Amino acid sequence: MKVAVIGTGYVGLVAGACFADSGNEVICVDKDASKVAALRQGTIPIYEPGLEDLVKRGVAEHRLSFTTDSAAAVQDAEVIFMAVGTPSRPDGQPDLQYLEAASREVGRGIRGYKVIVNKSTVPIGAHLKVAEWIAAETSEKVDVVSNPEFLKEGSAIDDFLKPDRVVIGTSSDAAFEKMSLLYGPFVRQGNPILRMDPVSAEMTKYACNSFLATRISFMNELSVLCDRVGGDIELVRKGMSTDVRIGKHFLYAGVGYGGSCFPKDIAALVTTGRSNDVKMGIIEAAQDANLRQRQVFLEKVLAAFDGDLSGKTFALWGLAFKPNTDDLREAPALTLIEMIESQGGSVRLFDPVAMEHCRKLLPPTKTRKYCESSYDALAGSDALLLVTEWNEFRTPDWNRVKSILIRPWVFDGRNLYDPAWMKKQGFRYWGIGRA
Ligand SMILES: NC(=O)c1ccc[n+]([C@@H]2O[C@H](COP(=O)([O-])OP(=O)(O)OC[C@H]3O[C@@H](n4cnc5c(N)ncnc54)[C@H](O)[C@@H]3O)[C@@H](O)[C@H]2O)c1
Repeated sequence: MKVAVIGTGYVGLVAGACFADSGNEVICVDKDASKVAALRQGTIPIYEPGLEDLVKRGVAEHRLSFTTDSAAAVQDAEVIFMAVGTPSRPDGQPDLQYLEAASREVGRGIRGYKVIVNKSTVPIGAHLKVAEWIAAETSEKVDVVSNPEFLKEGSAIDDFLKPDRVVIGTSSDAAFEKMSLLYGPFVRQGNPILRMDPVSAEMTKYACNSFLATRISFMNELSVLCDRVGGDIELVRKGMSTDVRIGKHFLYAGVGYGGSCFPKDIAALVTTGRSNDVKMGIIEAAQDANLRQRQVFLEKVLAAFDGDLSGKTFALWGLAFKPNTDDLREAPALTLIEMIESQGGSVRLFDPVAMEHCRKLLPPTKTRKYCESSYDALAGSDALLLVTEWNEFRTPDWNRVKSILIRPWVFDGRNLYDPAWMKKQGFRYWGIGRA
C-alpha cells in the first residue's frame, strides 16, 4: 500500500519505518528540512533502539523515503497518517496549530479519495476538526480515522510491531478495511484490532495514559506515607503487583513521571472535563501528586544538607525522562537541576544519550557541567542523585564511586539500589519511600 506519514518525530518515524518494513511504500514528511536531509543521509535524529537499522533497510530497499513537500507526498498515498506534535497550551488544552497546518497542507495536495489517520494524540472531537480543515482546502472525499498510538519510547519498535491491540475509530467500512490490511502483519498472533467510533478511540488514548499515570502517582503518594511510618514501598509494590487483579506495570515510586505524553494528556483530559462540566477529580489528584513528588525528592536532599545547598555540588545520573530514549520533554531531571541551582547548588551531569539535547536546552554554565562519564560526574560532588534508571547505572563500581565522591551519599530517585547493600558498602542512602 502507498502510505504517507506527516510528521517524522518519535511516532511518525517509527510508524513509517515499521509500515515500510512490512512491504508498504512509505513517504515520511517533515517540515524540518534539516531533519529530512539527515534522514536521507541515513542519520536518525532521535535515539530509539532498533530504529536506525529499520530506517536504513527501508531506504536501501526503496520502500522508505523522506521529503519536506506534503502536497507531493500525499498525491499517490492511499492512507495518510498525521503524526505531528500536539503539545500542551498554557491552559492545558492541546495546541492543534501543527495539526491544522498539516491538515490544510494535506487538503491542498490530495487528488481522489483518501483515508486520513489521526495518529497524533488529539482531544475528543479532533477527527471532525481535521475533516473540516481538509474540506476547507479540497472537495475530494476523505474519511478521517482515529488511530491512537500506544508505543513507548525506548521500546517503540517492538511496541509498534507487536501491539497489544490496535484501536481504529471510524464509521467508514472502506477506511476500516484499509487500516486492517495495513495492521494485519502486526496482529498475526491474534492481538485484536478494535473497531470503535472515533470519539471512543480518542478517549481510549487519554484514558490509558491517565490511568497509567494515576498508578504511578498512587505509588508515589504511598511512598511518602511509607517514609513517615517506616514502611518500604518496594515491598508494598511487590505485595500489590503479585495480585493478578492489579498486575505489575506502572507501580514504581520515584521522582514522578515526565515525558511528552503523560503530563500533557492528563492536562488535556482534565481541561476537557472542565469544559464539559465534569470534574476529573482522580486525575487532577494524580497530576498534583506528580508535581509534589519532585519536591519530595529535593526535600530529602535539603534535609540531609540542613536546608543549605549553597556551595554544594551534585552529580546527576540520568537526564532523559526515562531510560533508552534521548527525550527530555518534561523530564524530572530538568526540574531538579533548576531546583538545585535556585538553592545555590551546582550540578555535574551525565546521561548515556541525552547530553546533546540537554546541552541545547540548558547550556553549560559555571555551576552546570556536562561530564564525560558517570564517574567523571562524581568528581568534586558532595552526593550522587540517581534520576533515570539507565542499565549502566544499575551496578556501578561502588568502591570507585565512594573514592570519588566528597561524601558517600546517594539519593536514589528510582529505588534502583538495595538500601541494606548500600549501607554495607559504607554509603548513606536515601530512596523513595524506603529507608
Ligand atoms: N512520543 C511518544 O512516545 C508518543 C506516543 C504516543 C503518541 N504520541 C503522540 O504522537 C504525536 C507526535 O508525537 P512525537 O513525540 O512523535 O512528536 P515529535 O515532536 O517528535 O514529532 C513531530 C514532528 O512533526 C513535525 N511537523 C510539525 N508540523 C508539521 C507539518 N505541518 N508538516 C510536516 N511535519 C510537521 C515536526 O517537525 C516534528 O518532527 C503527539 O500527538 C503525541 O502526543 C507520542
